[in-house]
Amino acid sequence: MPTLGQLYPQLDSVQLPENLPYTQCSAFELRFLYLLGKHRLTGAQGDLIELGSGGGGSTYAAALGLSENPEFDRSSAKLHAYDFFRVGKGTFATEKFFAGGKAPDGQSSFLEDFQEVLGPFLDFVEIHAGDIWETSDPHEKRPIEFLHVDIAKTARVWTCVAERFLPRLRPGSVLLHQDFAGPRLPWLHYSTGALLPYIEIAGPPIRSTLAFEVTERIPDEVFRAIAEDDFSIEKKIDLISAVQEQIDRDHTDGIPFRSVLELAKAFVLHYEGDHRRAWKIAEPLTDDAYLARTRADHFRQIKAELPAPAPAVRRSTMRRRLGRLARKAGLR
Ligand SMILES: C[S@@+](CC[C@H](N)C(=O)[O-])C[C@H]1O[C@@H](n2cnc3c(N)ncnc32)[C@H](O)[C@@H]1O
Repeated sequence: MPTLGQLYPQLDSVQLPENLPYTQCSAFELRFLYLLGKHRLTGAQGDLIELGSGGGGSTYAAALGLSENPEFDRSSAKLHAYDFFRVGKGTFATEKFFAGGKAPDGQSSFLEDFQEVLGPFLDFVEIHAGDIWETSDPHEKRPIEFLHVDIAKTARVWTCVAERFLPRLRPGSVLLHQDFAGPRLPWLHYSTGALLPYIEIAGPPIRSTLAFEVTERIPDEVFRAIAEDDFSIEKKIDLISAVQEQIDRDHTDGIPFRSVLELAKAFVLHYEGDHRRAWKIAEPLTDDAYLARTRADHFRQIKAELPAPAPAVRRSTMRRRLGRLARKAGLR
């Protein structure tokens, strides 16, 4: 069985079909999902789970790989696909997930379109449609062999992932964080920092995706702290720094992850209401060409919360006020 790092050399050469469903993942991320399915995953060590399947692009890539894997028994193993499978406020799903690239009049669910495009694999793709807090089982304890996280866009959803899925990771489990290049989701970064003693990072992130393998049993206490977000601000920042020491640019050299993670620290502070310190970290990063080009809205968001500067007081006014104070105090 190959290590995750051993799959990297094939990332440039794998050819996927041209007619893949619409996806928000890059070609490299899809190829990695395919390679994992074909060469690494079997479903024999635990569940294979994708959180945030959208229109099915990422699901299709992983399922295609699994279908070509002689170690994968499609008559018994399953690839679980979780998503709202509908558009609407707060879903983070786009109308592009519909087959026609747009929701037909009066329709919000793209589940049928997902089923249509995943047709060749529906015998082993198990669909969990709806809010993940409703569709996941809080009592499920089966180990997870593979977890693709492309859903944790809010702290609320991350809590569900952390409570119900992470504790099912075992040595040998593979986890992919698709949103690792998202500074607004710092829970992905500091939780990875908390897991560092028990995991091996596969290599440079593949575009936005950080992949790792669990190498040691993860103590329950660590899972609890992650699920309860039980870290001080300073600890969160230190944990992100620890991850910064292990990764730099993504494997295409396009994304400077050290800067991205530095901005994630600013978001830790921003969410905690320490807006001055958040801006102190963020402001120097506005010189980073990648962040300036791709994250201008992030800088605006942090800067907008800065307290308004105190109005300047003219020198003559200040002298008059000091004089009054001195007279009151009997100094003049
Ligand atoms: C970035 S998209 C997934 C993209 C997909 N992996 C692809 O290949 O294009 C994120 C998905 O997370 C889903 N999602 C977000 N919050 C959710 C929740 N609470 N329950 C279920 N699905 C959710 C959205 O419906 C959306 O389709």
